Amino acid sequence: MTTHPDYWNRIYEDEGRPGWDMDGATPLVGELLELALPLGLKPGGDLVVPGCGYGHDAAELEARGFTVSGLDFAPLAIQGALHRYGNRVAWSQADWFTTKLGPWNALFDHTCFVAMDPLRRPAYVEACASHLRSGGLWMAALFHDVKGQSGPPHALAMLEMRQLAEARFEVLHLADATQSHPRRAGREFLMVAKKR
Ligand SMILES: C[S@@+](CC[C@H](N)C(=O)[O-])C[C@H]1O[C@@H](n2cnc3c(N)ncnc32)[C@H](O)[C@@H]1O
Repeated sequence: MTTHPDYWNRIYEDEGRPGWDMDGATPLVGELLELALPLGLKPGGDLVVPGCGYGHDAAELEARGFTVSGLDFAPLAIQGALHRYGNRVAWSQADWFTTKLGPWNALFDHTCFVAMDPLRRPAYVEACASHLRSGGLWMAALFHDVKGQSGPPHALAMLEMRQLAEARFEVLHLADATQSHPRRAGREFLMVAKKR
């Protein structure tokens, strides 16, 4: 059950370095920041990385001057992040669907939304809205193609993402990614959306 931390923890335990882990931040950190800064992202503001795994993206965002919280409900993910990057980032073991988290100015979502059971997507959008301050930004890297795998990750079309996000967000940017990791080239798209 992907809804339970044990599912993910077991993968960290069995594989050490799971298939999704790229041993470094996604190049989409830079691309999403370039998109979001002119759309209102505060340089050096606070943000959260849900489903942060071993923390590569969170640490990269901290290195770029943001005040970062990295959150994951799998204990081995948080232990791995702390081991790799220490206390530069505020790591916490928590479920994204918990009601009281944050609030933050922004969230950076890479392989967390797409890891969810598609039935949980509307609730995930609600969680994003509830953990952001008013006007907060949701930056996301998403898959429109998972090479026919059953998932997770689960692919979705841009239009579907727009319809889901628009329940609580104004979508400011939605387009194919141009700087994906070579393993993912041509399969990712990016969204920047502002909490209404
Ligand atoms: C596919 S992994 C991606 C990890 C990381 N973003 C990366 O790219 O290396 C998805 C992560 O989301 C975490 N996760 C899944 N559901 C979660 C939830 N409800 N709350 C917090 N973390 C969750 C899992 O434990 C896992 O570490």
